[in-house]
Amino acid sequence: MTIDLHEWMSQHRELLDTYMEPLLGDSWPADFSEVMRYPLFGGGKRVRPLITMAVFKALGHEHLAPAMAPAAAVEMIHTYSLVHDDLPAMDDDDERRGRPTVHKAYDEAMAILAGDALLTEAFDLLAEDEHHDPSTKIEMVAILARASGYRGMVGGQVADIRLGGGATTAETLERIHRLKTGALLQCAAVLGGLAAGANHEQLEAIKTYGAALGFAFQLADDILDADQDDGDEGNPSYVRLLGVDETRAWAHKQAEIAKEAARQLPDPQLLIDLATFTVERTV
Ligand code: IPE
Ligand code: IPE
Ligand code: MG
Repeated sequence: MTIDLHEWMSQHRELLDTYMEPLLGDSWPADFSEVMRYPLFGGGKRVRPLITMAVFKALGHEHLAPAMAPAAAVEMIHTYSLVHDDLPAMDDDDERRGRPTVHKAYDEAMAILAGDALLTEAFDLLAEDEHHDPSTKIEMVAILARASGYRGMVGGQVADIRLGGGATTAETLERIHRLKTGALLQCAAVLGGLAAGANHEQLEAIKTYGAALGFAFQLADDILDADQDDGDEGNPSYVRLLGVDETRAWAHKQAEIAKEAARQLPDPQLLIDLATFTVERTV
C-alpha cells in the first residue's frame, strides 16, 4: 500500500499536537503557559518531529508511542531557537508564520524566558519518558544536547552572525548550514532510530539520511527566501553566493544521498518521499 505523504504528514502532525496538548499548562504565574504555548502551537510545519516518526516507522514499527517524547523534544528545541532567533538582538523579526513574534505579542523578557523554558523542558520530556530504559534515555539526552548546543545549532547561529557576512565562501556556508539547521534535523532522525532500537548499521544510515536531509532543507529554505525576496539580507545564503540553479542542484544532490541511505532501512518509502518533499516544497 502506498501512503499519500501529505495525508501522512497531516495525520502525524495531529498525533504530535495531541501528545503535546497537555504540556506546559501548569505554570506559575499562570499566564506564562500561554507565552510558551504561543510559538509551540503557532503553525510550524513540524518537519523535525515528522522525521523522527518517519524514521521510527522505517524500522518497521507501527505503534508510535515510543517516538512521541523524542519527537516533541526536538520540536520544543526548534521552537525555542526560533523565538530567540527573532529577538531584536538577533534577526529582529516582528512576524513569523504570519503572526507577531513572541517578543512582539508579549515582550522581550517573556520571549527570552519562554525560549529558555522550552529548551529545558525538552530534556525533561526525554528524561521522564516511560518507553525507554535509562541508558537509551541518556543517549537521547546527550545526542539532543550536542545537536542543540555549541557543537550544533547554537554553534551554527554563532557562525552565522560572525562569519556569515558578504565574504563567505561556499565551504563556510555549508558548515554554517549543517550546524544551524542540519544538526537538529539529523538529531530528529537519530532519535527516531534510537527510539526504535536501531542497530549500529541502521543508525549509520539514519545519520547519513538526517545530515543530507538537513542540509537539503536549509538549501531549499534559501531558495524559498530568495523567491520571496524577504529582505533578510543579514542571513547568509547559498542563492546569493551561487545562484538559484546551482543551489537547487546541490539540494537535489543531497536529497539523492538521503534516499540512498534510506534504502538501507527495512521500510524506507516514507523517508524517500520526505526527501523529495524537502527539496520540492513551496512553503
Ligand atoms: C525555519 O525552520 C528555520 C530554519 C531552520 C530553516 P522551519 O521551516 O522548520 O520552521 P517552521 O517550524 O515550519 O515554521
Ligand atoms: C532560524 O534561522 C534559526 C535557526 C536555524 C536556529 P534563520 O534566521 O536562517 O531562519 P528564519 O528566516 O528566521 O526562519
Ligand atoms: Mg531568522
